[in-house]
Amino acid sequence: MEGIGHNEKIVGKALKDVRDKVVIATKLHIKPEEVEELGSVYEVVKNHLKGSMKRLQTDYIDLYYLHRINPEVPVEEVAEAMGKLIEEGLIKEWGISQVSGETLKKVNEITPIAAVQNLYNMLERDCEEDVFPYALENDIAVIPFSPISSGLLSGKITRNTEFEKYDDVRNFVPQLSKENLIANEPIVEELQKIAEKKGVTPAQISLSWMLKKYPNVIPIPGSKNKERIIENLSAWDVELTDKEFEEIEDMLGRLEVHGHRGHVEDKLPVLLKNNLN
Ligand SMILES: NC(=O)c1ccc[n+]([C@@H]2O[C@H](COP(=O)([O-])OP(=O)(O)OC[C@H]3O[C@@H](n4cnc5c(N)ncnc54)[C@H](OP(=O)(O)O)[C@@H]3O)[C@@H](O)[C@H]2O)c1
Repeated sequence: MEGIGHNEKIVGKALKDVRDKVVIATKLHIKPEEVEELGSVYEVVKNHLKGSMKRLQTDYIDLYYLHRINPEVPVEEVAEAMGKLIEEGLIKEWGISQVSGETLKKVNEITPIAAVQNLYNMLERDCEEDVFPYALENDIAVIPFSPISSGLLSGKITRNTEFEKYDDVRNFVPQLSKENLIANEPIVEELQKIAEKKGVTPAQISLSWMLKKYPNVIPIPGSKNKERIIENLSAWDVELTDKEFEEIEDMLGRLEVHGHRGHVEDKLPVLLKNNLN
């Protein structure tokens, strides 16, 4: 297994010759020990940023995210640090990940935020209550992670699917336990019917649904597979009619969802450690 920053090195190598034509986003997470060691949140953020810029072979980052708030590090101080780094020209914009509407408002009032990266998909719609309304009002992009619900909404995961043992986070996603996969089959089946009727794939429906729903949404499906990346990108060309959109909304209101994607995140390091040891 490669260390922290491995992906940044790959991206840096790939993009160094086209740097001025692309937008690079990366992220940091802060531990309280680091603040103690370096003396301020600003110094810690700058230190992480310098490491990322080196690995990415660039002297600025377009969008720098705080990846999850550490309750032991005041998020207000992170917002102030991001403001300073914007003034210094080291980052163009900043963003934050997995926050409530209330926290989003609090930090946006300190240093305006460009993007909020939260869990959002057909089966996890908490963001609709407060995050989307605030983001829409304040010109903030919403970047849903797990927009295909870790692949579940593609219809390609079945009750018999086995994930790679050591390198697939989906082993720890409660929504993908065998029990919940079976319980969620009616949702996947309905989605498959809608997709078949439209002549597209379920993954494309799940993405085109959110693209139609919100003008400020930029989903980031993840895949290691070239065909799926193209399939997911092509969701941009799938245009749902108002009627189709309403049918989907109706289906989502009716069906019961079993299991959650997000709650396991806090336990993940422990689970991974146990699994690897
Ligand atoms: N901010 C955060 O806290 C946070 C948390 C989690 C993830 N993320 C980010 O969000 C992005 C995506 O999240 P995610 O990977 O959880 O979500 P996702 O896109 O909902 O699901 C990705 C999984 O589904 C499979 N998949 C993707 N497209 C598919 C398709 N068309 N058909 C069948 N299977 C498909 C992929 O498998 P294959 O690789 O085999 O195609 C992959 O394992 C990543 O950039 C990740 O870094 C952020």
